[in-house]
Amino acid sequence: MTELVSSIKIRPFKISDLNDVNAYASNPKTTKYMLWGPNTIEDTQNFLNYVLSNYQKDPVTHFEYGIEYQGKIIGGIGLIINYENNSAEIGWILNEAYQRQGFTYEAAKQMIEIARSLGVKSIHATADSRNVASYKLMEKLGMVHISTSKGTRLNKETNQYELDQVYYEMLL
Ligand SMILES: CC(C)(COP(=O)(O)OP(=O)(O)OC[C@H]1O[C@@H](n2cnc3c(N)ncnc32)[C@H](O)[C@@H]1OP(=O)(O)O)[C@@H](O)C(=O)NCCC(=O)NCCS
Repeated sequence: MTELVSSIKIRPFKISDLNDVNAYASNPKTTKYMLWGPNTIEDTQNFLNYVLSNYQKDPVTHFEYGIEYQGKIIGGIGLIINYENNSAEIGWILNEAYQRQGFTYEAAKQMIEIARSLGVKSIHATADSRNVASYKLMEKLGMVHISTSKGTRLNKETNQYELDQVYYEMLL
C-alpha cells in the first residue's frame, strides 16, 4: 500500500460534502452498474439527508460513510447491519479520477474492522454480473462467490428485474 492510500480515512458524511458526493454520484459512467443514478444535485441532497437521519437511530444500522482523501470526499462506503443475525451488506463507489489506486480496498478494510467491532459475523455484497471492478474487489477482500442469480437484478433503464446478479460473502 502506498503512503497516499494509507492516508485515507472513512467517516460519517456531512452536509458540506454535497458537491464532492455529487461529483461521483452524478457521473453516468460511475453509476452505470449501480441500482440508482446518475444523480441530480437534488437526488444527492436527498441521499445525504437520508444518511444523516440514519446516523441518529439507535442502534445505527446504516453506516454510509464517506472516503476522505486530502480533505475531500472521493467516494462512499456503506455497511448495512442486520443485528438479528449479525450479518451485514457492504457496498462502494469511488470518484472516477481516483479509481484503480487501492483507495476502495483500503476503505473497505477499515469498514470491515468497524463491522467486526460491532459483532458482525458475516458480510455479503451483490453486484451486476458485468461489474468486474466490483466483484474483483470483493475477491481481493477475501469474499467468496456464493451464487449468480439469473434475471433477478433491477435494470434501472427498463425498471424490470432482468439482470444477472452475483452474490459474495465473507465470514469474520
Ligand atoms: C468498484 C470500485 C468502487 C472499485 O474502486 P477502486 O478504488 O478503483 O478499487 P481498488 O483500486 O481498491 O482495487 C482493488 C481491487 O479491485 C479490483 N479492481 C478494481 N477496479 C478494477 C477494474 N476496473 N477491473 C478489474 N479489477 C478491478 C482489482 O482486483 C483491484 O486490485 P489490484 O489493483 O491489486 O488488481 C470502482 O470501480 C467504482 O466506483 N465503480 C463504480 C461504482 C460501482 O459500480 N460500485 C459497485 C456497485 S455493486
